Amino acid sequence: MRILVTGGAGFIGSHLVDGLLAEGHEVSVYDNLDEQVHGATSQPPQYLSPEAAFVKGDVRDVDQLLATIRKHRIEAIFHQAAAVGVGQSMYEPRRYVDVNCVGTASLLEALMQSGHRVERVFVASSMSIYGEGSYSCPSHGLLDVDVRSPEQLSRREWEVRCPSCSAVTIPAPTSEDKRLRPTSIYATTKRDQEELVLEFAAAYGLRAVALRYFNVYGPRQALSNPYTGVMAIFLARLFNGKSPVIFEDGLQGRDFVHVSDIVKANLLALGANLEGQSVFNVGRGEAVTIMDVATSLAEIVGVEISPETTNRYRAGDIRHCVADIDNIRLALGFSASVDLRSGLRRYVESVRGAEAFDRTETAMKELMTRGLILGDEDD
Ligand code: UD1
Repeated sequence: MRILVTGGAGFIGSHLVDGLLAEGHEVSVYDNLDEQVHGATSQPPQYLSPEAAFVKGDVRDVDQLLATIRKHRIEAIFHQAAAVGVGQSMYEPRRYVDVNCVGTASLLEALMQSGHRVERVFVASSMSIYGEGSYSCPSHGLLDVDVRSPEQLSRREWEVRCPSCSAVTIPAPTSEDKRLRPTSIYATTKRDQEELVLEFAAAYGLRAVALRYFNVYGPRQALSNPYTGVMAIFLARLFNGKSPVIFEDGLQGRDFVHVSDIVKANLLALGANLEGQSVFNVGRGEAVTIMDVATSLAEIVGVEISPETTNRYRAGDIRHCVADIDNIRLALGFSASVDLRSGLRRYVESVRGAEAFDRTETAMKELMTRGLILGDEDD
């Protein structure tokens, strides 16, 4: 097929481009080479396959999108372009809404104007749209909880409690039918991206799949971007001889999935020819704590650096979220191939020796001056 990947020069997008090319598709990449991710450059990154046609463009530019769709006679779109960063989205709400929501709406408008040659759209959604994951209370069963209250957080009671009996809850697999309760501007824009695509597709009779990525990691994740996922941030610290800085107590759990498994899920979705509109979680279905991530990374990098636990809270953070992967397994036959330990090893080897500016402290200050990190001095 002739396929367009928006955000195709980015971390996930570029791996997806490789996967699509390997399956024999004709791939065009549309990407603005955002400076926060790529540094100041007008050239696509070296890792981007020369077999893909590259178009430098803004996802809010309907005319350029339309011209690209027409010129390359696009049949399917993988929409991966987005501003990514929970903390940053809380003090740049307008940019996040603009790039993510207006960008998606612009893509849909271009698609409509192109005369519907495009039949299928795949949108990169996110676990962030759930807000807190699902939990189970020993007495009250499965719960749909609110975010932790400021009072609870100021007491540093990190675990989620049952609203009925206040018992400490146990994280449960989060399935696609859980109510969506984004807790950050970023997450809200990811929900909007998903819903815009699905609603548009339903109205125009297009086939669409939203893949809700859990915490993705792997080669090409921008090491010097302090707003990216926690693993890249921790590696930038470790490569600079500094301790990873851990929010809360480090026992918060996430479902980390290697980027090659995200590609696998996308390729399965493309091959499955699903009718209508569908939504799937993409994770491993297993949780790991942030503390474990920090210590495993230090061990693999080969440094004796212990993480620094702050007992502080980052606004917008959830405590636990792990994917229920039953639906994607049944519908697409997906299960993750890369276990965390070997995934981490592969990741560390791929970035060893790479330039890694540690900008964590500046990013942390940005959040602190805006009251977005709550800790001792604020109490
Ligand atoms: C969020 C989004 C997710 C997105 C990812 C990357 C939510 C719930 N999820 O995930 O969709 O893909 O960001 O932008 O909004 N942490 C530290 N120290 C650090 C950095 C992070 O302890 O230096 C902790 C955080 O407090 C959090 C965990 O690590 O508890 C994971 O953080 P992060 O990698 O930013 O991802 P999420 O917030 O889970």
